[in-house]
Amino acid sequence: MIYELTNPLTKTLITHLRDSKSDAIRFRHLIRELTKQLAYEALNKFELKSKCIKTWKGDDTFDSIEEENIIVVTILRAGMPMLESVIELLPNIAAGFLAMQRDEKTHKSLLYYDRLPDCEGKIILLVDPMVATGGSMCDAIEHIQRRNPRKIITLNIIGSPEGVKNVQDFAPDVDIFISQIDDKLNDDKFIIPGLGDAGDRSYNTL
Ligand code: PRP
Repeated sequence: MIYELTNPLTKTLITHLRDSKSDAIRFRHLIRELTKQLAYEALNKFELKSKCIKTWKGDDTFDSIEEENIIVVTILRAGMPMLESVIELLPNIAAGFLAMQRDEKTHKSLLYYDRLPDCEGKIILLVDPMVATGGSMCDAIEHIQRRNPRKIITLNIIGSPEGVKNVQDFAPDVDIFISQIDDKLNDDKFIIPGLGDAGDRSYNTL
């Protein structure tokens, strides 16, 4: 399932992201806000369970998402602000980290660090702002699938039609929530019109 956000606020924040006047702090802030929008949509149908908490009038039971069943996994570096945003919303979920780098010549991604908690039976929110060729997402999904999760949901900010289709074809069971699907990839495998390199723009390494 591919779900692209249509909210005018989403489109407005994406335009701010594309604006080269948005510096690294503003860029990461926009990524965090867009991630929250994606999370609201992705968690919309999640089951609520009763949870006992201590309130100002004593112990009582209220509805809550089962945070202990969710893991957010980020792909370094550009996915870091997205991970922070999800954890701000759901502070009790566990976090996992994958480090991948796209080879500038072959355009293939390479996994060089993996720190995942136990994924067995868990719902994984896999976050990365960019889906260019989709190679990084596919590799990350394949890696996580080996750990037997119950479900994988991706949260992405911007993608190419080719990249998003590649991910969906590779993993039809994965739900893709994305803020914006752009026009195409160019010959250098950059999303057009896109927003440049999200990692570089987030961390001032342009
Ligand atoms: C970017 C981006 C994705 C990947 C997308 O990361 O954050 O992880 O490229 O490209 P793909 O869909 O063709 O695989 P990059 O390799 O630039 O690393 P960075 O996050 O450290 O900047």
